[in-house]
Amino acid sequence: MDTVLVVDDEKNYLVVLSAFLAQEGYETITADNAEHALKIIESTDLDLVLTDMKMSPVDGIELLGRIKERLPDLPVVMMTAYGTVEKAVEAMQLGAFNFILKPFQNETLRQLISKAIHTYKVLKENQRLIHELENLYRFDNIIGKSKPMQVVFSMIQKVARTKATVLITGESGTGKELAAKAIHFNSSRRNKPFVAVSCAALAETLLESELFGHEKGAFTGAAAMKKGRFEIADGGTLLLDEIGEIPSSLQVKLLRVLEEMNFERVGGTRTIGVDVRLIAATNKDLRAEVEHNRFREDLYFRLNVINIDLPPLRQRPEDIPLLAMHFVNKHAREAGRENMTVSAEAMGFLCNHRWPGNVRELEHAIERAVLLSKGDEIKLEDLPKDLMRFADLEIPLDWNKLSNLPKTLDMIEKRLIEKALALSNNIQAQAANLLGIPRNNLHYRLKKHNLL
Ligand SMILES: Nc1ncnc2c1ncn2[C@@H]1O[C@H](COP(=O)(O)OP(=O)(O)OP(=O)(O)O)[C@@H](O)[C@H]1O
Ligand SMILES: [Mg+2]
Repeated sequence: MDTVLVVDDEKNYLVVLSAFLAQEGYETITADNAEHALKIIESTDLDLVLTDMKMSPVDGIELLGRIKERLPDLPVVMMTAYGTVEKAVEAMQLGAFNFILKPFQNETLRQLISKAIHTYKVLKENQRLIHELENLYRFDNIIGKSKPMQVVFSMIQKVARTKATVLITGESGTGKELAAKAIHFNSSRRNKPFVAVSCAALAETLLESELFGHEKGAFTGAAAMKKGRFEIADGGTLLLDEIGEIPSSLQVKLLRVLEEMNFERVGGTRTIGVDVRLIAATNKDLRAEVEHNRFREDLYFRLNVINIDLPPLRQRPEDIPLLAMHFVNKHAREAGRENMTVSAEAMGFLCNHRWPGNVRELEHAIERAVLLSKGDEIKLEDLPKDLMRFADLEIPLDWNKLSNLPKTLDMIEKRLIEKALALSNNIQAQAANLLGIPRNNLHYRLKKHNLL
């Protein structure tokens, strides 16, 4: 719903204009002086300001100037009973959308307002398109050649064409938000907003007003009307992240909203209808939450129309080299370096690590390694030490074949030394101690394995 702020020191005008605008389907807020108007403008999402020119102590021209300082794009239409050309010219120069002479015909005002709001929307749309380009780029950045990721990609393509609610599950850092964006930007809603809310980040009452908005005065601290994320996402996609954390009272309300696609703002009575594609994401096992009576079953079924499950990284090790190189390129570019590579040894380590934090953890590890590495090649010692701490000494031995003894022993020796160094934070005396060899013996072996 489009919201218009009407500013006029003649209260009668406020009443008449509010009635007219309401009849035209606009939501109106009124202020009878410029200071009050500024307070509203600072705290409320508006689509248009309609203001009188002659008011005191602060007049319409000054109000216009202050609005343009804060919100240069918000359209302002000036009303004046004094048809002086100079004032009108001044207002236009200061960035007014247009002006209208009092008294005016309803039809003139109707056209002017609808044109101003339309122009404003086109402008916002353009800004969103620029944003979208960045996000589209992001979709290209979902990396994965493994079978399970191919399944995920084809599901994203399929559901993008529908309006079905999608539940995205997967451990932390597996790319749930990335998948949600991919659905949005591959759907016909791509030119409309993609809005994400984390259900875990806010207390219950705040979350309710975040989702559905609130009217002015709905609760202490609600100094102005605020639109909720459902309203902001109208026409687009809403991601309810960490849906498993949503408090039970809100679960009831959410279910009702999803069924009817309309709601009231907190403290409000007007029913607002929206057209929103909903995606929910969680790293919890929602089925188990239902079994433990922590999540409503009816809501679970309503959300879980289509489930996309993102596999943990350790179940798709063949994606690791691709992801690693993708992040090396990304962070090298950001650090102003080019053509960085990863040593075979470091890559082997990355591929064998369990990655409890999944892709996010891998990206952070690479980011640090890019910053730490001295040359153009990322070596094992450039990788974060805390990764080593948990690394096990998996050695690729094939017991069915007879291996070359000296080579195999060398490999084992090298792995043991690396592990000891990692455990002792690279302090050689400690590492030697752990390995049960004298320090000079360790030094000789470090040299032999090129670990110095
Ligand atoms: N397949 C992928 N290709 C490229 N980058 C990825 C991939 N998966 C995840 N990422 C990157 O890893 C990081 C974590 O991804 P994202 O935020 O989508 O994870 P999440 O599943 O929502 O995690 P959480 O449950 O912790 O919120 C992001 O920077 C994302 O860009
Ligand atoms: Mg997330």
